Amino acid sequence: MTKSHFTIWINKINLGPKRLILIIGYTALAAYISLTVFMILIIILLIAIIYFVIFYGIFIRKKVFKSINKYYEIRDYILPINSNKNYREIKPIGSNAITSKIFIKNTKKWAFFDIIRQAIITSKLKPFRQALILGGGGASVPYCLAKDYPKCKIDVVEISMTMINIAKTYFVKQFSNQIKFHHLNANKFIHHLKTKYDLIFIDIYPDLLTQNQKFIHQIKKASKSSSLIIINLTNSNKKNLTPWIKYCQSIFGLNNFNLYLCGKNIIAIVCKQNLLNFPSALKII
Ligand SMILES: C[S@@+](CC[C@H](N)C(=O)[O-])C[C@H]1O[C@@H](n2cnc3c(N)ncnc32)[C@H](O)[C@@H]1O
Repeated sequence: MTKSHFTIWINKINLGPKRLILIIGYTALAAYISLTVFMILIIILLIAIIYFVIFYGIFIRKKVFKSINKYYEIRDYILPINSNKNYREIKPIGSNAITSKIFIKNTKKWAFFDIIRQAIITSKLKPFRQALILGGGGASVPYCLAKDYPKCKIDVVEISMTMINIAKTYFVKQFSNQIKFHHLNANKFIHHLKTKYDLIFIDIYPDLLTQNQKFIHQIKKASKSSSLIIINLTNSNKKNLTPWIKYCQSIFGLNNFNLYLCGKNIIAIVCKQNLLNFPSALKII
């Protein structure tokens, strides 16, 4: 079940009901003491609000929802002086992590995992018709793929029906002819696959794939020799990944399996082409 909570942030200041009551209380107190002090305070407050809104932007919380025992919020960031930076995101409440993010205005860069856009371009992936995304979330990567590659069909596998409904309503409404959602555990989905994909992006909890060698074996079966496979290992410890990395290198070929550090996330990329260095990522293997 989802419920609506409307809250606004100016810059990082959350103007929730408690803060608003406090501000109203202070101004009422000032009004009680003197009308001039009250007017000055109101003018200062209005100038400060306008300044912060214009130059730092505002966050508007659109929805709070629960998916697999975790609360998330959808929020829009609006920066009036630069609409290229306006975005919509899903964030677990009480955490700095971002689950999904798209730019509201059409931009060349992707707001989430721009490294995939860069990898597609550098690998010269052609023809590019079938993509598989394991771990749908708000479907920001499917959104960008559908927008940039109108001929590409995208299968999205997501374990949570709530997340699928959120993605369909708030993120990818206009791409329903290109994006097909599958409400299933990715582990089950890949065992019954007949399609071979040009692009596979794995964005589920990393333990499922690193502790299960069959998973990566099935991924290999679902790919072509020319496919691009991208795996988000989040902030996993590279040392703990060593046996899994060795296994992947034996499956895909030593030179075709590389690891990159992208912010705090480790990303594995399987690709036959020798990918050039990405501007936003550091090659670590
Ligand atoms: C970080 S989000 C994915 C973001 C998404 N790739 C995007 O482009 O916006 C991870 C999602 O994976 C889903 N998930 C986790 N384990 C899964 C599994 N075994 N099978 C399918 N979905 C899974 C979670 O419910 C969550 O919505």
